[in-house]
Amino acid sequence: MNEELIDSAQMLAKRYLKDDTSGHDYFHAERVAQLAVKLYQQDHYSIITAQKEALTVMGYLHDIVDDKLTKKTKQRLQIITEILRLHQLDTMEINDIIYTITHMSYAQNLKQHYQLSLLGQYVQDSDRLDALGALGVARAFAYGGRHHRKIYDPAIKPVMIAGESARAYHRRKTTTINHFYEKLLQLPQQMNTNAGKILAQRRGAYMQQFLDEFINEWYSMY
Ligand code: ADP
Ligand code: NI
Repeated sequence: MNEELIDSAQMLAKRYLKDDTSGHDYFHAERVAQLAVKLYQQDHYSIITAQKEALTVMGYLHDIVDDKLTKKTKQRLQIITEILRLHQLDTMEINDIIYTITHMSYAQNLKQHYQLSLLGQYVQDSDRLDALGALGVARAFAYGGRHHRKIYDPAIKPVMIAGESARAYHRRKTTTINHFYEKLLQLPQQMNTNAGKILAQRRGAYMQQFLDEFINEWYSMY
């Protein structure tokens, strides 16, 4: 492994995400990086160093250029490109990393579906898996609180809008419980990879169980 390249990616993730309280902190990036490698290995048994490096780098960097988290996407992309060049990655690898981290988010793919490379698909699955399960529950409420969303309000119903724009999706006021129905519970059907699908089933089932219990407790005193 090119340890210096990994260190640089890690350092950028720490620099930009260390103070995040919306569920997109450094540890989210680290989990996405680690899980992407694990999923790939599960499906392919072996992995070459260059692939492991690319998966790790994409995992660490994927949220630092996300426009729901920063207005400085262009500037950060430039910094990333320079660092990747400095570490002698070839143009194809650099292009794959940049394309993946700028096209993998859920909101980006609402209006149209972007086809990612095989490695990109593992990183996208890994990111989506971190929005599921117990970690996903915790992150959803962290995000909701940070964005002044209510936990739940029976008067506000979940809305599903096919082909909604990323902007409209982010602006729409909803509750965090609705977000589970509007997005999170759909994620298991949207996984790209075999290993991703298997883990998403488990984490999705846990999330459904959490929701059932939440609704049960909410209505149990009426
Ligand atoms: P993506 O951008 O592909 O959705 P991220 O990891 O960048 O993936 O962000 C997803 C995380 O943000 C999830 O944990 C999700 O629950 C949270 N999130 C996004 N929008 C909302 C929302 N409206 N309410 C609650 N959580 C949200
Ligand atoms: Ni993410």
